[in-house]
Amino acid sequence: MNTAQPETIQRLDYTVPSFLVDHIDLTFDLAPSATSVSATTRFKHNPASDSREIVLNGQDLELVKIVMNGRTLEKPDYALDHGELRIPNAPDDVTLVIDTLVRPDKNTSLMGLYISNGNFFTQCEAEGFRKITYYPDRPDVMASYTVTLFADKKKYPVLLSNGNLVDQGDLPKGRHFAKWEDPFKKPSYLFALVAGNLVCQEETFRLADGRDVLLQVWVEDGNLDKTPHAMESLKHSIAWDESRFGLELDLDRFMIVAVSDFNMGAMENKGLNIFNTRYVLANPRIATDQDYANIESVVGHEYFHNWTGDRVTCRDWFQLSLKEGLTVFRDQEFSADRTGSDSGRAVKRIEDVRTLRQVQFPEDAGPMAHPVRPDSYQEINNFYTVTIYEKGAEVVRMYQTLLGRDGFKKGMDLYFKRHDGNAVTCADFLAAMADANGRDLSQFELWYSQAGTPRVKLESDYDSLNRTLSLTLSQSCPPTPGQTEKKPFLIPIAIGLLDAHGKEIPVRVKGSDNASDTCVLELTQEKQTFTLVDVPEKPVISALRNFSAPVILEFEQTDEELLHLLANDTDSFNRWEAGQRLAMRRLLELTHAVRENRPLTLDKPFIDAFRTVLTNTSLDPALRELALTLPSETIIAEKMDEIDPRAIHTARQFMRKTLANALEKEWQKAYKNNLTDGEYRPIPQDAGKRALKNLALSYLLLCDSTDTCHMAIDQYRQANNMTDRLAALTSLVHSGCMQKLPEVKELLEHFYKEYENEPLVIDKWFSLQSTSPTTSIESIRELMEHPAFTFRNPNRARSLIFGFCHNNMAQFHAEDGSGYEFWAKYLLELDRINPQVAARLARCMDQYKRYVPSLRQPAERALKQVSKQELSRDTREIINKTLS
Ligand code: PHE
Ligand code: ZN
Repeated sequence: MNTAQPETIQRLDYTVPSFLVDHIDLTFDLAPSATSVSATTRFKHNPASDSREIVLNGQDLELVKIVMNGRTLEKPDYALDHGELRIPNAPDDVTLVIDTLVRPDKNTSLMGLYISNGNFFTQCEAEGFRKITYYPDRPDVMASYTVTLFADKKKYPVLLSNGNLVDQGDLPKGRHFAKWEDPFKKPSYLFALVAGNLVCQEETFRLADGRDVLLQVWVEDGNLDKTPHAMESLKHSIAWDESRFGLELDLDRFMIVAVSDFNMGAMENKGLNIFNTRYVLANPRIATDQDYANIESVVGHEYFHNWTGDRVTCRDWFQLSLKEGLTVFRDQEFSADRTGSDSGRAVKRIEDVRTLRQVQFPEDAGPMAHPVRPDSYQEINNFYTVTIYEKGAEVVRMYQTLLGRDGFKKGMDLYFKRHDGNAVTCADFLAAMADANGRDLSQFELWYSQAGTPRVKLESDYDSLNRTLSLTLSQSCPPTPGQTEKKPFLIPIAIGLLDAHGKEIPVRVKGSDNASDTCVLELTQEKQTFTLVDVPEKPVISALRNFSAPVILEFEQTDEELLHLLANDTDSFNRWEAGQRLAMRRLLELTHAVRENRPLTLDKPFIDAFRTVLTNTSLDPALRELALTLPSETIIAEKMDEIDPRAIHTARQFMRKTLANALEKEWQKAYKNNLTDGEYRPIPQDAGKRALKNLALSYLLLCDSTDTCHMAIDQYRQANNMTDRLAALTSLVHSGCMQKLPEVKELLEHFYKEYENEPLVIDKWFSLQSTSPTTSIESIRELMEHPAFTFRNPNRARSLIFGFCHNNMAQFHAEDGSGYEFWAKYLLELDRINPQVAARLARCMDQYKRYVPSLRQPAERALKQVSKQELSRDTREIINKTLS
């Protein structure tokens, strides 16, 4: 910890490793307060390097012994400083035996080897292996691993590592061992071990080629009733990767282990994926529809990494999106395919774009903006961002949009053919896509190197005489830190045209023979005009269909045109988009009205449009739910130059309340018509109905009647699943019912008691309160004193502190700055325990420079106060960048 500037690592400073490793043999003697690690590593000089120095990383290690080719080394045979152990003048072939001691019981960072509920786990991505032993902890050093684990048999009956179990047995004094061999070469960040008292659900599963593999889902005792969904998800993932990309599981055994203390979502360690419990455990009693969907997608994500990440990995951490963007794209496609319907695919797409806009667009417009392939970082853990993941996935999606599904598949095939077993770069991926399709994609590279969300302006001109429509597209990209000038991107813009009756007009570009309902225009210049021919009437334009590029489209359309799209567009995404744009227009105007103390009103045509959507039973309930959900406060803020969070909240609440009252009968009807009686099934059809029904409930609770409060209370009491129960309780707490009816407080207490032994549900209990606009900062402070609250468990810390600071605009941005002081205080506390999680909390203040002056000042005060303290490198980087 220090107050100084951390060192900045530059992408262009990359040099090849001086020595490569072909094999490492690891032995662990596991004990909480002193685990001894012995590593025998075979190094070979890398002919591509002219350095003869072996460089090993190490952090928080006690070095016991180091032996090189049979000889014990003493300083100055080696040097140890700044977390590096260096051995100069090493010969071509070196075998190093290194003994170290580590203290898992003292490890609260959850990186390296640590303890959770008495069991041992590791987390090595990105740079955690160096907390286990001295090693070239960089992804371009790939080796085969043999791992032997020794431990007390009673305390740690289960001993797992990557690959195949090759030996195990009992030892004197109640001890035992297990030996694992991973035949595939891997970088150190994919190493994992798990040891403890765990149980598993297992199954053998037949692959497409007829091979049988063993699948296991490991959990703590008492959780076996919560593993079936993860197991099903794993089997679906395996089958999907075979059928969609022809990629097979390469191991005889594939394990998933759930751990309750985990910094992130899950980790793709080879053959031994380690998951945050929240992405494994599910049954109707504890998990919501959203949880079920998340589990399927994260299980898929980690499984898909086996090829895109493990078999082909990253040369250096600047290439992180090579594996993450690609794997997110793959999990998005998997989830979309799993819905089994076009409307299901659209729902998934809308949700993904909503996340992108809600989190990535602000990131790209703030102090942490960075390219999909960053140029520099101080702490790599800070770069596991929505830009790397979600924008990265959009970049991969654009290849598919430009090359077609078959072309994309060809590119993937070539990528694996060229790079299997290697550590490569984003440029290698681009080259495979280009070469497999005989296309020059050099301009596309700018999506990797330039940060910021491009703006695309569209202007149209219809010529009735010649029956042509000219579309003029121009692009620009705002400056981002370190990048003032931007070159034009290659942007695929999917366009469709609707006639006055809402029917598609085939799109044909002048000079081309093909006409199609949706045409992808390739914008490559700063400004470009496309002429569409055979357009019989002035059409309504449906632009950027299915969100064909991660850009902000600026296209003036009248309310009438948007209403026409909302009613008729065949592209479900744009149908939703039209509704959002209609709402956004009004929300921005209402926010101004709030700030200027003008009366608030909502026009009838808009209310009627909402009614039409709500009562349109031919439209999938899930799509209706999305269409009737107003743009979030964050998304509204994104559209404003100066952010007044509470004015935004007031405006949005006004709109919701007005829609609630004006459509009360229709909401009632939607509620009744979308009940899902009978056994709970987490399938998209039922989940969609529940979502619409619960949205209706949340609107109804804004009407001024206590009847609806009772309706919600009944739903809570009668629910046979967590989705309905949580939705009822959340709406009750977030609306005014809590103040009106003492029963609500009782329900809140009932919920706690009922699920006291289900940590994931207690997280929900904390979140539903911390995100409520009715929860004051005093109540948050009280909740911090609750015996179930702890900083040590990231899920718990997130549910309360992040819930409040990130997702409670109305309360967090209190005029007196009390929210910011709260943030500063607990950020510092958390930073001493877990820097990685603290640095995420630090990002609450990303947008502070855009706040209204009355908030900017207290926010800056809080930031400066934090900045004066000793901070981890993680948090220091964020605070410095936010203030700069
Ligand atoms: N690589 C993991 C994933 O996206 C994320 C992760 C990063 C987990 C760092 C832990 C630590 O699947
Ligand atoms: Zn990933």
